Amino acid sequence: MPKILILYYSRTGNTEKMAEAVAEGAKTVQGVEVELTYHVSVERLMDFDAIVVGVPTYHHDMTIAIKNLWEEAAMKSINLKKKIGAAFGSFGWSGEAPRLVLEIMKNKFEMQVAEPPLLVKYAPDHSGIEKCREFGRKIAERLIHTA
Ligand SMILES: Cc1cc2nc3c(=O)[nH]c(=O)nc-3n(C[C@H](O)[C@H](O)[C@H](O)COP(=O)(O)O)c2cc1C
Repeated sequence: MPKILILYYSRTGNTEKMAEAVAEGAKTVQGVEVELTYHVSVERLMDFDAIVVGVPTYHHDMTIAIKNLWEEAAMKSINLKKKIGAAFGSFGWSGEAPRLVLEIMKNKFEMQVAEPPLLVKYAPDHSGIEKCREFGRKIAERLIHTA
């Protein structure tokens, strides 16, 4: 069964709420396995067919935990080629982080990225949660159709 990883970082819980809703949406699609986590070893990244990263923007950048993950994956030559990649995150005013993640997925790891990333300002309200669910469902459907 194709597997989706939803990996997130969240300092004040906003991206975490988004991640939970993205996972809920993905789980509505039959025939995919969904794992939601805030930590994964780089070696395990290879077990998944789609990698969805939730990252808030702090200081116009992605957070260090997510940056370190890519650094380590690159150093260990982890092969993520052709896997589906997507990114989302909460932000306050500029929201660069999910786009930076997609750039790395695309240009460094040659993943097939789903664009655009999903951005929600601060805490997701009801409509933000719905957007997250839809985002998760669409990625799961894309995975089913490419698997
Ligand atoms: C110290 C600090 C720096 C921040 N820098 C940015 C920034 O550069 N751009 C932006 O869009 N939001 C910025 N924010 C806002 C956060 O992205 C926003 O609060 C977000 O909801 C945090 O998500 P989280 O709850 O998942 O950690 C910053 C917030 C703090 C506290």
